[in-house]
Amino acid sequence: MKLNIAVLPGDGIGPEVTDQSIKVLNAIAEKYDHQFQYEEALMGAIAIDKTGEPLPKETLDICLNNDAILFGAIGDPKYDNDPTAKVRPEQGLLALRKALNLYTNVRPVKAYNALLQKSPLREGIIKGVDMVIYRELTSGIYFGDKSLNDAGTTASDDCTYTAEEISRITHEAFKAAQNRRKKVTLVDKANVLETSRLWRKVVTEIATEYPDVELDFLFVDNAAMQMILNPKQFDVILTENMFGDIISDEASVIGGSIGLLASASTGDDKALFEPIHGSYPQAKGKGIANPIASILSAAMLLDHFELYDEAENIREAVEKAITLGIYTPDLNIESKYMTADVGEFITEFISDTSELDNYPANIAVGLSTII
Ligand code: IPM
Ligand code: MN
Repeated sequence: MKLNIAVLPGDGIGPEVTDQSIKVLNAIAEKYDHQFQYEEALMGAIAIDKTGEPLPKETLDICLNNDAILFGAIGDPKYDNDPTAKVRPEQGLLALRKALNLYTNVRPVKAYNALLQKSPLREGIIKGVDMVIYRELTSGIYFGDKSLNDAGTTASDDCTYTAEEISRITHEAFKAAQNRRKKVTLVDKANVLETSRLWRKVVTEIATEYPDVELDFLFVDNAAMQMILNPKQFDVILTENMFGDIISDEASVIGGSIGLLASASTGDDKALFEPIHGSYPQAKGKGIANPIASILSAAMLLDHFELYDEAENIREAVEKAITLGIYTPDLNIESKYMTADVGEFITEFISDTSELDNYPANIAVGLSTII
């Protein structure tokens, strides 16, 4: 298959983790005889520095002209700490999601057996967790009208949803549930918010088209608690934009590090793949960032184009790295493995599985080429 991929490394650790994904994708292309071509573009703080805009027109054109987009991370402390900044890096990502109509954001969360000890949550609570969050991505409070009065003392953010916006992602979530454990949990705040009541109405109606899927509801405050009390109850979580943002960061605690969580943002046409983590500016350039979220996002990209064996090969390689303890300091403060080492191991594993059995021994005696 020939795939043209727009690459937006973005800010902070974005470039270093994205580099590892490209290495991994190249190994897949070589092994399975595909042609992947990359076109790099600017987005975020780096784009503001160079062009004055977080999403330059050239970047949007590049995204539109490629089959898919691989994105790194966005954000810079110099904007976070300045509430008066007129232009912010995050606006680039939001504008891109909107322009490409990427309304479904899929965020899988699982507990790896080899990492059960790494989570602050007890093993018995997280062992076996396997859920996916369907977060609406192009509407709600993120995109409503905003206001600030002249005196700078009163501000507002409008939250609006249409039945159509709710419906299209709801179908995606139910279809996903049909291939999983057949349960959808709608997370909302229907005891308070009108938009949440519309979500309940639309989702309840659509559920009748999927009689094999069970639907239940949770208020978001309770869902936040259930997420750490009993996360195994969840299969597919369906929710609006801001609740999904918050709940997914919380869910990352289950896996032991936010550096493990990947995501896919899809619409009717284009698709973008990105780690759910931020730009981690403190780690920028140090080579310690976890590349796995980005690498697993690349696997989701392959899934999107129905390259299932290839995607599975990446996940298998990631699993192997995790099982062998080849991960960055976010998962083991004493780890000697850097971002590039983890990427290298995963790449080597994909390129030459015949040597797989030698890895643990090689690593033990310090013979592996990656250390
Ligand atoms: C995410 C991020 C973004 C969001 C930010 C960077 C705008 O936190 O993708 O989860 O809030 O959607
Ligand atoms: Mn977020």
